[in-house]
Amino acid sequence: MGKPTKIYVCIRGKKCPKRGSKKVLAELQAEVANQASSLEVNGCGCLGTCKKGPSLIVTPDKVRYGRVRPQDSAEIVKAHSAGTGPVEKLVITKKKKK
Ligand code: FES
Repeated sequence: MGKPTKIYVCIRGKKCPKRGSKKVLAELQAEVANQASSLEVNGCGCLGTCKKGPSLIVTPDKVRYGRVRPQDSAEIVKAHSAGTGPVEKLVITKKKKK
């Protein structure tokens, strides 16, 4: 078993909270309970991808997601609980980071 997977959602930056990141955090936590997942979901400060907010990062994989909506939560929790890899459509890549 590797390190436990944790999700950190930016809720203390300047932009993400205005774009609904707290709702994303709440929804992710609800999904973790719903799916009886062992993922841990926490709020955090600015992740440096403000323009792509609401932003979050999944560790230890260091996958970054942007423009996350509450309705994406089930898919994110499922993918990272099962270890089936990132939800590609939400991944922030350097190219897309404008
Ligand atoms: S304000 Fe959320 S990543 Fe910067």
